[in-house]
Amino acid sequence: MGKFDGDALACEAASLAYTDGERTNYALRDVTTTLAPGRFYGIMGPSGSGKSSLLYVLSGLKKPTQGSARFGAFVYDRHADADVTRLRREKFGFVFQQPFLLPYLSALENIILAAPRQDKPAREKARALLADLGLNGLENKLPSQLSGGEKQRVSVIRAMMNDPQVIFADEPTAALDHTNGHRVVDTLASYRARGTVVVVTHDPEMVGDADEVLLLRDGLLADVQQPAELRTNTVSARLVGASPAR
Ligand SMILES: Nc1ncnc2c1ncn2[C@@H]1O[C@H](COP(=O)(O)OP(=O)(O)OP(=O)(O)O)[C@@H](O)[C@H]1O
Ligand SMILES: [Mg+2]
Repeated sequence: MGKFDGDALACEAASLAYTDGERTNYALRDVTTTLAPGRFYGIMGPSGSGKSSLLYVLSGLKKPTQGSARFGAFVYDRHADADVTRLRREKFGFVFQQPFLLPYLSALENIILAAPRQDKPAREKARALLADLGLNGLENKLPSQLSGGEKQRVSVIRAMMNDPQVIFADEPTAALDHTNGHRVVDTLASYRARGTVVVVTHDPEMVGDADEVLLLRDGLLADVQQPAELRTNTVSARLVGASPAR
């Protein structure tokens, strides 16, 4: 357990159904789990198994159609959307598959943009984060001058700017080779003592350092494992599926 004593993320009997005409498709079915603060969690499972859906439900981006999800005592579906949005903006950071950097701003300026005010303290903090993660040479470069891995690490630092209690990352390494993928995940994992880190991935190597890995199958939470079990257990190897060759 990390030193961080923030709130836990949890969902209780959470289901997420999509109804299309008379067909109902369950993206999540009856998922109950608690993610302790200050730890690094992986979420794995085949395509369509509900990984992104679980991330959306845990972060309050989507309200479960049955059951509930919460951050500490804040139960998302008991609050107005605007309040959930504010909680998310103040307490969570997000990293997506693509880094979404503004092309006409430098790496440093892209990071500062996440701060409530683009002032001197924000600038100093962004510089400190870049330096801590060995990226201080990048601050004045434009996104077009950065590699895919560097861009993604800049987007991870941007997600750290407001000292979030949780960082959610949905396939942050999907567009990267293994070396760059590891750098991005190491950057995310370095945040663990300051907050909770939740990373969706197809690649078991990317969660080798996680505290726990949640395995989904057909919307069900099929298992929760230690990363070491992922490679030795044939059932889970089938569950997580092979990572695509690149
Ligand atoms: N907006 C939507 N409308 C209808 N069905 C949806 C919608 N979003 C997701 N689904 C369905 O919910 C299921 C779970 O989707 P989800 O995106 O959570 O899977 P995933 O594990 O993240 O997949 P991937 O690895 O491909 O990103 C899938 O069957 C998907 O088709
Ligand atoms: Mg997904």
